[in-house]
Amino acid sequence: MEEVHIRRAVLPDIPYLYDICLKTGNEGKDATSLFFDPYAIGHYYAAPYLLYPDGICFVAEYGYRPQGYIIAAPDTIAFHKWMEEQWLPVLRIRYQLPFPAALIRSENEKRIIELFHKCQFPVDMSYQPWLADYPAHLHIDMLPVLQGKGVGRALIDNLFTELARQGVPGLHLNVSSANEGAVAFYKKMNFSVLVEYDWGFTMGRKVK
Ligand SMILES: CC(C)(COP(=O)(O)OP(=O)(O)OC[C@H]1O[C@@H](n2cnc3c(N)ncnc32)[C@H](O)[C@@H]1OP(=O)(O)O)[C@@H](O)C(=O)NCCC(=O)NCCS
Repeated sequence: MEEVHIRRAVLPDIPYLYDICLKTGNEGKDATSLFFDPYAIGHYYAAPYLLYPDGICFVAEYGYRPQGYIIAAPDTIAFHKWMEEQWLPVLRIRYQLPFPAALIRSENEKRIIELFHKCQFPVDMSYQPWLADYPAHLHIDMLPVLQGKGVGRALIDNLFTELARQGVPGLHLNVSSANEGAVAFYKKMNFSVLVEYDWGFTMGRKVK
């Protein structure tokens, strides 16, 4: 953990969040070659958490710049409401459909642009009843230089301390089964599988 400094994220960290998100966006590996628009993935999976008023965001600085983050929403339903009302309308104008097919470089990029246009709210609780016990969700990503140094564990600890302070009962996340390292990491962090899909898992951990 030498030289690693964990702190709350601030708005000027946004470019670093976009960069880290892209460079870990292919099942934990670099997704740069998969995107015509290098910012598309971060528009959905990184930046909104920093702009969302209730977002909980920490960065890990290494070598005097952020090289990892953990970003979370304490109440996923409230987050989706905010996304639908505040964040996605702007993206839907910016990325109007049909997006030129010739520009799209991968299924990953196509899926992200479609997500911009997918209605987020109201949330259908009938297919995710576990949301009541695990209302928060997170994303955690670190550049390779920071991986395997105990920083992921430290970021999870920071987040869960804050969730406990806020009285949040639990947190869930989605992880692809192709990202075997991340699945192993979450199991080590005491997450258990809530639902298994053909593409991966929803995992959850109670906040004590
Ligand atoms: C997955 C990730 C967040 C883990 O963070 P990390 O800082 O590398 O993990 P840590 O060093 O804190 O490891 C904590 C524990 O998890 C285990 N672990 C971490 N990565 C692992 C891996 N790839 N395979 C097996 N176990 C792993 C460690 O062995 C350690 O266990 P220990 O405490 O018993 O020694 C990080 O590697 C990462 O950002 N990967 C790329 C992006 C990504 O896949 N994000 C998740 C998307 S769902």
